[in-house]
Amino acid sequence: MNSTENEKRLKIPRRQFIACGVAMSFMPWVPVAARYEDHRLPLTPQCDSQKPVTPAQTPGPFYLPNSPERSDLREPSDAGKPFLLQTMVVNRDCVPLQGVIVELWHADGQGRYDTKGYRYRGMQLTTAEGRTLFKAIKPGLYPGRTPHFHVRLWQEGQLQLTTQLYFQGMTQNERDFLFNPALLMQEQENTDHHSGVFLFVIDSHPV
Ligand SMILES: [Fe+2]
Repeated sequence: MNSTENEKRLKIPRRQFIACGVAMSFMPWVPVAARYEDHRLPLTPQCDSQKPVTPAQTPGPFYLPNSPERSDLREPSDAGKPFLLQTMVVNRDCVPLQGVIVELWHADGQGRYDTKGYRYRGMQLTTAEGRTLFKAIKPGLYPGRTPHFHVRLWQEGQLQLTTQLYFQGMTQNERDFLFNPALLMQEQENTDHHSGVFLFVIDSHPV
């Protein structure tokens, strides 16, 4: 595929995302994802104005403000497949929200959080299509919790959502005191990476 064809493929009409109730697809659109062109997952949950907003959860004790703006959170020492997290932020009318800050933080492969620095912490602004993409790792277990990502969404300086995302098929999910199946990512295992997508629905308006 040449670059022109690729650019055409990555340009998805806005109305495609506004068609509520219709399964939508994520496609890679930033350089960090350029080599993951096989990544194309249906978005879940389906966006429906009757559906509730994404459930909130505690930030836990390891949140740090001022995460750096970056998409690749991995460390040079990380082995194994990266985990590509693609998100989309829409309001209850299914309108993609641009300029929303999406913060992501998670434990390392051994279940440890960096509380003195910003390892495995980063933030991005959503694109005009309401998207972000993070290249992370699947966090390890730590006592009492199933593996999870922490996420915070900010719009116009206002905190809109604090929640956590969960991984499919983890035996620890059912024993986790915070686990909520509404916060499961839709995942796919690929040859050289894992991938997950999640649609955030917040009670907000385009700015
Ligand atoms: Fe945590």
